[in-house]
This record gives sequence, C-alpha cells and structure tokens, in this order.
Amino acid sequence: MRVQLKNAPFMRWFDKRTGIFHLTDEALDEPIPGGARWAYIFGSGLLYILLSQIVTGIFLAMYYVASADHAHTTVEYIVKQVTAGSFLRSLHSYGSSAMIVTLVVHMGQTYFFGSYKGRREILWLSGLVLFAMIIGMAFTGYLLPWDQKAYFATAVGTNIAGEVPFIGEWIKELMRGGTEMGTLTLSRFFVAHVFLIPACMFAFVGAHIFLFRKAGSAGPISEDPIEPKQKTEQFYPKQVIMDVVFATVLVGTLGLLSYLSPVDLGPKANPADTSFLPRPEWYYLPIFQWLKYWNGASAIIGIVIIPGIIAAFLVALPFMDRKLERRPWKRPVTSFSFAIVICALIFLGWQSGHEDASDPAVAKQLAKQSEETAAFMKAPFVPELSGGTLVAQNAALADPQAALGKKIFGDNSCDGCHGENAEGTDKAPKLIGVSAKFDHDKLVALLKSPTKKMLDGGMDPVDLPDDQFNQLLAYLTSLK
Ligand code: HEC
Repeated sequence: MRVQLKNAPFMRWFDKRTGIFHLTDEALDEPIPGGARWAYIFGSGLLYILLSQIVTGIFLAMYYVASADHAHTTVEYIVKQVTAGSFLRSLHSYGSSAMIVTLVVHMGQTYFFGSYKGRREILWLSGLVLFAMIIGMAFTGYLLPWDQKAYFATAVGTNIAGEVPFIGEWIKELMRGGTEMGTLTLSRFFVAHVFLIPACMFAFVGAHIFLFRKAGSAGPISEDPIEPKQKTEQFYPKQVIMDVVFATVLVGTLGLLSYLSPVDLGPKANPADTSFLPRPEWYYLPIFQWLKYWNGASAIIGIVIIPGIIAAFLVALPFMDRKLERRPWKRPVTSFSFAIVICALIFLGWQSGHEDASDPAVAKQLAKQSEETAAFMKAPFVPELSGGTLVAQNAALADPQAALGKKIFGDNSCDGCHGENAEGTDKAPKLIGVSAKFDHDKLVALLKSPTKKMLDGGMDPVDLPDDQFNQLLAYLTSLK
C-alpha cells in the first residue's frame, strides 16, 4: 500500500516539496533488534493517552471558567446538561489514571530490564522530566472542578509544600497565589494545567521520541544495548499493529468505564467546612499515607530528604550503572530495590484504605461525604445566580430561540416582576424550573389567561404574535 501511495502523482508532488517520504520511511522502518514484541507497546500507549487527554481536555476547556465563583457550576453544567459531557469528562478523568498506570509500567520496565543502559542517559533523564510533568498534570487537574474533595485535597497538597524548610512558605504562596485558596489559586492551576505544563510536555515528548530513535530500540534483555547483534525487524507493520491493538484496548476500556461508571462531581467547595476529610485520587494514596508517618520535626525527612534521595538516585542511575548487563537476575541490587518500592507503594495504598475502614468516626464521615456527592449528582442543574449574571444559563441560551425569548422577556417587562434572569423578586416568584412544574399546554394557557392570583399580582395576559410567543416559551423552558 505504501508503494502505491508513493506513486500517486499528488504524493510525488507533495514529497518533492516536503520530503515526506523520507520522514515516513525514517519513522516506519525503525529496526527493532529481536523483532516486534507486546512488551514494547507501553511507550506508544502513553502517546495515545496523551492524545486522548488533549482532545477531551480541549472539549472541557470550551465550557470551563477558571474562577472560584463559576468553575464548579460550569463543570456541573458539563456533567448534567451538555450532551455526552459527563462521558467526555469521565474519559479525561479515567485517562489520567490510565496515564499513571501506563507510565509506571513503562518506567518500571525500563528500570527492571535495564533499557536505560548503553548511551541512553539523556533519554532516561527526559523520561524522568516527563514523569514529573505528568505528576504535575494530575495534581493541577484535580483542583479544577472546585468541588469539596478537589478543594480540600489541594489544600493538603499545598500545605505539604509549605513544610519544606526555608522556601516552603514561599512555594505554597506561589502555588496558591496568596495565603488562602481562591480564584487566584484556581487560575494558576488552570494556566499550569492547560498552557504551561502541556507546552513543556510537547517539547519533552518530542525530545524523548527523538532520543529514543537516535539510540534505537534496546531490544530484549539478552541483547547488547549499544551494538545489537540479533536479527532485526522493522517497526512497520508488526509493531505498529501491536501498538494499535493496545490503543484500541485502551479506547475500549476507558470508553466502557466512562459509560458504565461516569466520574462524579461533589458539592461545591465550602472552605468553611471543617469536618470534610480529603482523600486524594487513588494513585496519590500511597504518598498520602506515607506523609502521615512524618509529623512535626521529622516531616522534613519524609517530605524532603527521602524523596530527594530517591530522585537523586533515579537521576544518577544511568551514570552510575555503566555495566551493559541487562538481565534482572544478574543485577540483584536494582531488581531488589525495584521490588521493594513496588511492594511499599502497594502496602501504603492498602494501609490507607484499611485505616479509613477501621476507624468508625472516619468511616462514618467518608460515607456521609459519598452520600452528599450522590445526592448532588441526582439534584437537577440549577443555574447559579451571582451579580445578576447566570453563568451556566447563558450557556443554556446557546439555543437561539431561547436567546431571542430572553429579549422578549425583557421587552415585555416580565423582568420587572420576575427578575432580570427570572430568578424571582418580592413581586413575583422565580420562573426557573417552571417547565418542570407545568407541561407545555398548561404553560401556554397560564400565559394567555393568567390565574386570578397572577392578575391580582399585576400580571397581564401575554398577547404576542405567534413567533414571539414561541420564543418566549423557549426561554421559559430553558430555565432549568
Ligand atoms: C406586575 C408583575 C408581573 C409581571 C410584569 C409579570 N408577571 Fe408573571 N407573575 C406575577 C405574579 C405575582 C405571579 C404569581 C401569582 C401566584 O402567586 O400564583 C406570576 C406568575 C407567573 C407564572 C406562573 C409561575 C408559577 O410558578 O406559578 C408565569 C409562567 C409567569 N408569571 C410568566 C410571566 C411572563 C412571561 C411575563 C411577561 C410577559 C410575566 N409573567 C410578567 C407577576 C408578574
């Protein structure tokens, strides 16, 4: 098929001007020592998830408003009103978990099978930077919905940063945009999540892939990572097919999860709530648990010294470990330390859940919190009123009929009694949710011949040409 494409006149014309054939040859004919393997799918899997996060993220950003007053309403609007909004938000949220899982497998594999060896120091380092950025993406994204758990988990997260000696308070204020958490915090997290980190990530993903191609695939563990001796196979088609199969499995799994069990949204953050118990996303639980063991004067050991040693070890690894031996059983120290870290993470995560379950007061509060979330998810969407503007309702007015109807609502001084945004005044009740109260015909009848009470309240029968009447009706119906 590739050969046929290359002979097409347009492709030849295009190639003369862009050199595209050279590029695709370079990309697809990458030799893999020892041949294609399922073990190699995780790197490209990460690339695929990144793509999915970008697409779903752009969608979310179209509705999202990064302010403490409106963020939560806009996310609620996405979840409850927008077509497939909850599904796409769930894809983005589950995607972040999938990213962490795949990342740990990819990194663990590189570490365990010594694929960082043989002139791959910079490749490894660029991977570490990407690791840090993904952790940063998970942290900054978590706050954006501005619900109770987002707010309190981030309060904990930023407080931890504050424990770092000397510069901790400064880092904390830098992250929060002040001493307290509010709109400035949200807009900083938003900028980091949407512009700053992604921009750096693109650069590092590019560098990472370039460096990987430069060094070449390290091949199986029996292979010499500098001068491969085994028979090679080209990246295309077998490895490409394996990568695509994995991407398809990811699409299927994430899609199914998002469909069957959409991610929920809790009630809006209430900073005055002192009883709320924050619990981070599952992949942060081991760290959350770890930090519980280090209080007061020893905090610096748990927050700075030990993580610092681990980070320094990871950075120094490809420089210290110069032997080209890659078989795990011949590298007991690296293999053993790997096993210890994985076991410790699993244990800490388990311990965190276990402690919550075995303390009745905590378990009760956590159950109460999930009930509140469930109740909030069931409640209908109510447009938020603040300073006379209905944030989400303006979004609802994306319906042009309803938008025209709102104008008629004003022109006929309905707003004089029912309020500018039909939120109600002391002269007349709110009309938000009126379409749930009366069916279409009943509403028409009410408007054309108001009840005695309405007439007594000073409301005249509505007498408008049909098209205007229907627009007014569309507006009233949009007031959910
Ligand atoms: C002079 C004040 C006034 C004006 C102007 C007015 N209304 Fe009303 N309206 C009322 C009062 C008072 C009631 C509620 C009477 C009652 O308690 O049942 C009401 C009730 C309603 C209801 C029924 C709500 C419910 O929940 O029972 C609808 C619908 C309504 N108005 C629509 C409109 C529209 C549309 C306009 C503009 C064409 C308008 N009103 C203009 C005073 C007003």
